[in-house]
Amino acid sequence: MKTESIHIAVMTDQLMELVAPRAGGSYLDATLGGGTHTSELLERSGPDGYVVSLDVDAKALERAKKHFKAYGSRWQGIHTNFGDLEDVALRQGWKGFDGMIFDLGFSSDELEDASKGLSFKEDGPLDMRLGSGEAAARFTAEEIVNSWRQEELAEIIRTYGEERMAGRIARAICDARKHGRISRTMQLAEVVASALPRNYERGRIHPATRTFQALRIAVNDELGVLKQALEAAIGLLKPEGRIAVISFHSLEDRIVKHLFKQHEELEILTKKPLIPTDEEMAENPRSRSAKLRGASKKSNTQKIQTNNKYAKRLRHVDGTAT
Ligand SMILES: C[S@@+](CC[C@H](N)C(=O)[O-])C[C@H]1O[C@@H](n2cnc3c(N)ncnc32)[C@H](O)[C@@H]1O
Repeated sequence: MKTESIHIAVMTDQLMELVAPRAGGSYLDATLGGGTHTSELLERSGPDGYVVSLDVDAKALERAKKHFKAYGSRWQGIHTNFGDLEDVALRQGWKGFDGMIFDLGFSSDELEDASKGLSFKEDGPLDMRLGSGEAAARFTAEEIVNSWRQEELAEIIRTYGEERMAGRIARAICDARKHGRISRTMQLAEVVASALPRNYERGRIHPATRTFQALRIAVNDELGVLKQALEAAIGLLKPEGRIAVISFHSLEDRIVKHLFKQHEELEILTKKPLIPTDEEMAENPRSRSAKLRGASKKSNTQKIQTNNKYAKRLRHVDGTAT
């Protein structure tokens, strides 16, 4: 089913193979976006499967509500941050899912929306908050750039941007803001570029790429939220249920890898992360950095789970607590 979204979903076939949706199953798509993955889950779990889709982006839900109307009570859309998954599950009284997917980052619809300030190629306010209203982060990138100390800026740019030149960039930001507030994306991109050598990364990426990634992660506490969401999701997986995560940078991929390993109730389905096919990379350059990892919950999970605080709280809803 087509939606009006301009987002091209990545690794759809590999993702579906991993999650293996079946008729009558229950599925959670934590990142609705343009709705392609949700649509596949609905089609493959028909005629009586159930799919819930979450997104912080209210526009994604508005679009999806129109398009998935035909599925009636088989589909539910919820406007929320997936970091609140545990509370949402308790409120909704969910008993568990046969499959759960996370396709991280922003959709092309959000990236193209200059008012979000995510792009250094198009001018916009330095905002970078995911979502809107209650689901949005508390502070903007503008606040970080203009008020954090130089060492703090260097630290987030180094850690979240994996940027070797973080010190130089932080110094340039602090020098520039002495002359006035940095409030626009292009303004920041220029300050960053001015701090870096001309042949930065041999021209492979824009000089501001890593700094923008770092600010985005800091504004939205993306790594903390991801850990929290995955813990809750693992607690919500039914025995033999499958979880799959597509990430776009190594910080996220590392979190997924370690978290899957730490949970002895999981069986890892992807020893090494899956990557898109050459054809997909050629057709959709955004897919190039995608990595897909999957795991399934062992069928003898009940006992192992007793130490998982998420599972404990959630089982309470299920009424099956031991
Ligand atoms: C890459 S897109 C997903 C595309 C989708 N799989 C599809 O088939 O079109 C990521 C989506 O996740 C949403 N998102 C990112 N972080 C989120 C979070 N913490 N909570 C809820 N949604 C989030 C974004 O708003 C965006 O719409």
